[in-house]
Amino acid sequence: MNAQVPETGSLSQRLKIETSHEHDRMEQLMEKAQVFANRHNYAQHTLAQYYFQQDIENLYQHNEVEQIIPDLDVRGRSQAALQDLQDLGLEPQSSEIATEQVGYPEALGWIYVSEGSTLGAAFLFKEAQAKLGLSAEFGARNLAAYPEGRMRVWKRFKQALDDANFSKEDQDKVIEGALEGFARFGQLLDNLDQLK
Ligand code: HEM
Repeated sequence: MNAQVPETGSLSQRLKIETSHEHDRMEQLMEKAQVFANRHNYAQHTLAQYYFQQDIENLYQHNEVEQIIPDLDVRGRSQAALQDLQDLGLEPQSSEIATEQVGYPEALGWIYVSEGSTLGAAFLFKEAQAKLGLSAEFGARNLAAYPEGRMRVWKRFKQALDDANFSKEDQDKVIEGALEGFARFGQLLDNLDQLK
């Protein structure tokens, strides 16, 4: 347990507990959007993934982020999503980045949302294969596991967050960033039909 915040637990535990309501909301939005009902819906969802990954990768530029998460080069899926979009015949029309004003340590919360979503992506990847005939080579690259394996890369990420030994106030900011990240992805999911 983190020595500085014995009453609240580690940052990774707090993130899981204090954002779980948003995770539940994401699952509901995914269900509502019927992402795997047909390739059109799936392509719109891939567009959302692409825009979100662009937001996330923009945050890799913070020097402090690089110091806390030294293996950023194995993370990030925007190029995979872009290739998937090409497979699916879509070209992103927007270059707007939602994280221009996001500071540090909030940035780590946004990255938490993206990294954690690789776990649920195992389930989504199976759906994309079974229902839409997509694969890690065509259309569903962005949902495929990291070469090292999902769990290994995830545990390393959580460990890096916990090893940073943030004060209670900084942990609060990371959690705030995670809630903003979920809100952004939720907004994309909620407007899937309109995305271009
Ligand atoms: C139908 C959609 C989804 C399913 C079925 C799903 C499922 C899962 C599962 C099974 C886990 C692992 C839970 C554990 O091992 O304790 C997980 C973790 C996580 N997912 Fe999802 N997920 C979905 C959508 C999303 C979305 C859209 C996001 C964010 C944009 C997201 C973010 C996360 C995060 C951050 C974690 C890590 C939680 C932790 O701190 O342990 N998930 N998800």
